[in-house]
This record gives sequence, structure tokens and C-alpha cells, in this order.
Amino acid sequence: MRILFAASEAYPLIKTGGLADVAAALPVALAARGIDARLIMPAYPQVFDTAKDVTYTATLGEALGGHLVRLFAARMPTTGLPLYLVDCPALYARAGGPYTDDNGADWPDNHLRFGVLSHAAAVIAAGSAGVPWRADILHANDWQTGLAPAYLRFAGAPNTRSVFTIHNMRYQGLFPESVLAELELPRIAFSMEGMEFHGQLSMLKAGLAFADRITTVSPTYAEEIKLAEFGYGMEGLLYARRRDLTGVLNGVDYAAWSPQTDTLISAPYSASDLAGKARCKAMLQSELGLATDATAPLLAMVTRLTEQKGIDLVVGALPRLLANGAQVAILGAGEAEWERTLTSLPFAPGRVATRIGYSELLAHRFIAGADLFLMPSRFEPCGLTQMYAMRYGTLPIVRRTGGLADTVDEVRILANGTVTGTGFLFDAPEPDALAEAAARGMDLFADKPSWRLAQRAAMQQDFSWARAAEDFAWIYKVLAPHGEAGDDKMRGEAA
Ligand code: ADP
Ligand code: GLC
Repeated sequence: MRILFAASEAYPLIKTGGLADVAAALPVALAARGIDARLIMPAYPQVFDTAKDVTYTATLGEALGGHLVRLFAARMPTTGLPLYLVDCPALYARAGGPYTDDNGADWPDNHLRFGVLSHAAAVIAAGSAGVPWRADILHANDWQTGLAPAYLRFAGAPNTRSVFTIHNMRYQGLFPESVLAELELPRIAFSMEGMEFHGQLSMLKAGLAFADRITTVSPTYAEEIKLAEFGYGMEGLLYARRRDLTGVLNGVDYAAWSPQTDTLISAPYSASDLAGKARCKAMLQSELGLATDATAPLLAMVTRLTEQKGIDLVVGALPRLLANGAQVAILGAGEAEWERTLTSLPFAPGRVATRIGYSELLAHRFIAGADLFLMPSRFEPCGLTQMYAMRYGTLPIVRRTGGLADTVDEVRILANGTVTGTGFLFDAPEPDALAEAAARGMDLFADKPSWRLAQRAAMQQDFSWARAAEDFAWIYKVLAPHGEAGDDKMRGEAA
């Protein structure tokens, strides 16, 4: 089985969020099952700098409006995962982020940047690019590669099927109808059943409409997006395609996220020896200018600063959290207004610390050094950081939505002293509801024997990628042109 996994970011080459972690780890977990999985992504400058064994492979010719596109083969630095890098300097060789310039404004030619990526993915997967490899399945991810299933569909590739994974419905890749001609897709693609969305072209909708199978990153989110509250107008399409839509929970790359082996944290530790965690906390407190107090519960948040993540709930709950004796540390990057708000919070520096920016090092140190992890998301397709936090014995406080609901169980102390659960959940998207869940967390923190039991339970959770890879291997097998369609029913697909 040959899988071409298409994504716009992958750790450690380039990362803005969880998609990068998924693109780096899922193909490797597929390869461990004997699947020939390769990742295709844009050759941004930092990607060329970081990838290994970069070799020129083919010229894909002049794609979309005369942009000369070349293909390089390469490998991921740590895992050796085979990569295809789509090189088009006119589109990708510039300073700034993968989607926006340094001021946070979308690149004006994003339709071409991701049109070219999607087009390259489709022609390589279909075997029509002059590359001596083709894919049975083209697996596209989020709006940036949403056009790939459309190109594949209209190219009429009989031996290649497509899977489209939704990591976030919120980002839709909307462009004016006028870009259609530049994208070299037939007029018929721009219909209500296709990628037209209220008069605009939606790359997300292209993926949803033209992929043979749709997945999203948790079972609960797969249900939520069929409702208006989470579907952003695409709930009808998702409901209509419900038999093709499955939720496959993301995994954790424990090679990168384990306190025993993590070289970025101040001291290693494990469930059976938590001494290192106490050192991580003390170091983090002193690094952040917080009072070095082992008895104060330290609540941390590591996040993109955007409405999704519920940062407003944390800011609103701060007075109550502090009144209960908490220390709060926030690492965030994103919307300028939130960055400003967080740098000017009116609280004592010994109690609240904020760091603005994107730092892999600090992300690890916050997660390892904290006692409790804040993730009060308004919606959360899966969420990886709460799973990372659990492995580090940092109990998550989460809103009961999406993947958070699927991965965190409320801690309960049973009559016989047994402790079940791994974190603290709340429902109402309000500061008081967050503060109440946090208060339960802090109460448990004060009850050391029960706290240790819950911490160990959290650390022993196994969210490894092997399980998701098994689910995808099945999805691919059923879908592949020579797969056994009859097998589908044996899995009891939801009607
Ligand atoms: P999302 O993809 O919606 O941002 P996830 O929880 O799936 O949420 O993944 C977030 C990823 O990005 C994690 O690897 C997390 O450690 C990382 N991350 C988020 N914000 C920051 C930041 N400010 N600095 C460093 N890493 C961050
Ligand atoms: C998105 C979602 C997040 C998910 C990640 C990886 O960024 O917001 O919930 O974990 O993608 O799938």
C-alpha cells in the first residue's frame, strides 16, 4: 500500500500547530505497519535547510499560471520519513510564516501557494508526474491541501483514491470566484455540490466534496461538525456524507514527548520517580519570576492565541484562580490583541507569568513544570497538548468538547480511596465554570496521596500513534481500488 500524505507543515521542518506534529508522526506510524507512506509539502526555505538527503527528482513543469515547479526528494531529519518537497521559489521562498507574512496578514497568493501544492500532490499520487512512484491513496489534510482531491477527481485517476482529514473546520481557505481560472479546475467544480461556498471558492469544501473518504481527528468532533454550531455552514454537506466520515483520534509521538527522555526539560522523571518533576517546577518558577513555592499549584497554558482556545476564559478566571492560591503561566503566540492583553495583565509578577512567542523549548518546560494544564477551548478538533500534559503528570483542566472530551476523564475519589480519572472537565464556556473545575484540581493537588494516584493514572495513558495507524490502514485498505469493499460492513460503520 502506497500513501501520499499531503500537508502544509510538519515538525521539525516548519510548525504553527498540531497539524505539524500529526504530519510528522502519522506517516511514520503507518510505515511501521509496512505501508509505504511519503509526505509531500512545500519547500519553504527552512524546510530546505532542515531536511536531510535533499535530491532533485523531477520538473513538474509550469503549473497554474506559469509557475515553474520542481520536485525534490528528501528525508525527515530524525525519523528518515521519505519526503517530496514542492519547490517553487516564486511562491514559497520568502520570509514569514507558511500562511501569513510577519504582520499576520494572509499571503495574497495563498490560492496559488496551496493550489500548486495540491496539484503536485494529485499528479504525483496519480503517477502522471514523471516520478517513478505513485500512490494508492492520496491523504490530504485541511484546507491547504483541500484542492488535491478535486484535482485527482477531475484528472480521472483510476488507480488512486483520496482521503481528506479535517483538523479544523474553522479555517476554510476562502477565495473569490475569480481565482478559479488560475487554479485550472473545470467550471463544474465550482458548484453547490462542489467547492462553491456562498459565492466564494472554499478549499476546505473542495476536500469535503471531492474526497472519497473524510476523517476528522476525534470521534466527538466527527459528531459535532454535523451540527450548525461547529460546522460553519458545512454541517449539511457533512451530514449528507456521514457514511464516509469517521473520527480517528490523533496520537502522541512519545519519542518527542516523554519526561524520561525529554532533553529540553530541566530534569528527567517518570511515574515511579517524580523527583525530577519537582525540579522542573522549581526551575520553571524561577525562570518565569514566579515565587519558588512547591506548595503553590502551578497552572500552565501553551497555546495559539485565538478565540478557539478560550484564552478569554482564563483571563476572566484569573482573579478566582489567584484567590485560590494558584500560580498561572501562559505561553502563547497569535492574534496581536491577545498578545497585548497578556503582556499587560494587572497581576503580581510572582503569581502570573506570560511569555509571548512560539518556543518549542518553553512548551516542553511549561508542560513538565506545571501541576495543572489549562485548555478551556471553545471547540477542539482533537488537541494534542492535553495528551502531552497527561504524559508529564500535569493534569489537564479542559472544556468538554471535541477531542478533549474523548481524552480526559474527570478525577473521582472512590469510597475505598481508589482514584479514577485523569483531569478536570467543565461545560459552560464561562470563566466561573473554568474556575470551578480548576478549584477541583487544586483541591486534589492539596491531597497528596490522591494527587499522586491521579498523576500516575494520567502518565500511564497510552495515546500512541499505533492505534490511529491501525484505523487508517483499515480505511485505506477498504478504499484502495483493489481493496475489499465488502469488509466495510464488518466494521459496523455508523449509518
Ligand atoms: P492546535 O493545533 O489547535 O494549535 P494542538 O494541541 O493540536 O492545537 O497542537 C498544538 C501544538 O503546537 C503542540 O505541539 C503545542 O506544543 C504547540 N504550541 C502551541 N502554541 C505554542 C507556543 N506558543 N510555543 C510553542 N509551541 C506551541
Ligand atoms: C488542529 C486542531 C487541533 C488538532 C490539530 C491536529 O490545529 O485545532 O485540535 O489537535 O489540528 O490534528
